[in-house]
Amino acid sequence: MPKNKNIILIGFMGVGKGSVAREVVKHSDYIAIDTDDLIESMENRKIKTIFAEDGEKYFRTLEKNMAKWLEDNVKNTLISTGGGFYKQSNLKKIGIIVLLDSPFDAIINRIKEHPNAEKKLKKRPLLSDLKKAKELYNERRAEYLKLADIVVDVTQKSAAMCSKEILKKVKKHA
Ligand code: S3P
Repeated sequence: MPKNKNIILIGFMGVGKGSVAREVVKHSDYIAIDTDDLIESMENRKIKTIFAEDGEKYFRTLEKNMAKWLEDNVKNTLISTGGGFYKQSNLKKIGIIVLLDSPFDAIINRIKEHPNAEKKLKKRPLLSDLKKAKELYNERRAEYLKLADIVVDVTQKSAAMCSKEILKKVKKHA
């Protein structure tokens, strides 16, 4: 693995960044962190509460501060991010960017098939209106692709398969 380089997982809400990160950890010596989890623990409240109480703009400021902190302090780590974190201007400086890619309908079906589907939808304020979420997906996908150093199509692949592909591609990218 490249020394000092973080792996940053980006991709749309529900694409499976968390599950894939947990698999990468199983098959490598990476420690994984998650920007949403860090923000929630720092604020001691859930993302959906932050959105409801202080609005999306405030949440984006927290993400910006998090990005600066990651750049200055974190290395050799697998960083999974919220679906909008890719907008941070210093993303490239944080590490190798890996996009988990899948069509919108496949992502939504994946969530709906999950035993905790309702919880997964509820915790994401930007998925409450699926029509708007699809527009957001369409806006973002080209930007995700432009930014990514590595793209992994996760459609109909297990998290284990995706993690294998990521570790292989990251090694090659070094
Ligand atoms: C968001 C994605 C969420 C979370 C927040 C905003 C987005 O993370 O950061 O609700 O803008 O796409 P997940 O991608 O883990 O759902």
